[in-house]
Amino acid sequence: MKQRSDFTDWQKQAQIHTEQTLTRLLPPARQLPAPLIEAMRYATLDGGKRMRPMLVLAAAELGNAVTEAVDYALAAVECIHIYSLVHDDMPEMDNDSLRHGKAACHIQYTPATALLVGDALQSMAFSLLSQPTNLEATRQLRMVQTLAQAAGCGGMAGGQAIDLAHVGLSLNQTELEHMHQLKTSALIRAAVTLGGLCCLDIDQQALTALDRYATHLGLAFQVIDDVLDYEQDSNILGKTAGKDAQANKPTYVSLMGLATARQYAENLVQKAIDTLAGFDQRAAHLRTLAQFVIARNH
Ligand code: IPE
Ligand code: IPE
Ligand code: MG
Ligand code: MG
Ligand code: MG
Repeated sequence: MKQRSDFTDWQKQAQIHTEQTLTRLLPPARQLPAPLIEAMRYATLDGGKRMRPMLVLAAAELGNAVTEAVDYALAAVECIHIYSLVHDDMPEMDNDSLRHGKAACHIQYTPATALLVGDALQSMAFSLLSQPTNLEATRQLRMVQTLAQAAGCGGMAGGQAIDLAHVGLSLNQTELEHMHQLKTSALIRAAVTLGGLCCLDIDQQALTALDRYATHLGLAFQVIDDVLDYEQDSNILGKTAGKDAQANKPTYVSLMGLATARQYAENLVQKAIDTLAGFDQRAAHLRTLAQFVIARNH
């Protein structure tokens, strides 16, 4: 019980810190071109759960982290995430009008503006990651490479392409897992790796263990996203519930049913926690974040 309330405080602080960091790093509201910047701030601020920034922060607790690099990393990964959601909601993709409990970006502004918000947030992510910090330049290059690969055709964008190509079709478990690994896990793995790489004293063995943790966790995260889409209310989700069935998307719920999908996610989370066995108390927040993935209601 105590651990839970410690975690709740930590999570709240991490969310506040993420909001403040993004507010500071986004272009100021009154800067031109006004509609684009206003829409970037609208889509990014007052946002979602900030799961990926929390993973950056939790992984950075494993060692001696460079604070400003952590801030750039958590903002960069959230910029890519928000860009993916802005495009995901557009009529050409999932056609959703609600995101984070408010009008989706293309509804609040225009579809053309939403496209440009995605473009600009993606550039901003790499601009942030390449800001000079006390990390060595080779380390920062590795971070840029990590995020680029996670966002691109071998990661999020590729997974989204598979998703759209399979509307109305079924996928077997291996194919579905591949799609989820790309569209969701890739960015979650990048978040954890970036947090680790912000630590001056992290070694490759720890990074490998972290990546195994994040691979299981990332898959569990999308399995639960599928479960919540099926069983939760739009009000609580902050996005339209029931979209996957309505659009005939292959999901873990359509493949194995609700209860088995949830059980599957629970097994994955346990595997994720098991991969952290070699870490001490410093991995406590990574462990609790894994439990949060299945306990969350939105
Ligand atoms: C939703 O992600 C899209 C997926 C990749 C599953 P989140 O649940 O993390 O979105 P937020 O918290 O609303 O930003
Ligand atoms: C989205 O998956 C994954 C992304 C890369 C954005 P979903 O389409 O299931 O995400 P939601 O449910 O709209 O948030
Ligand atoms: Mg989608
Ligand atoms: Mg969607
Ligand atoms: Mg979904």
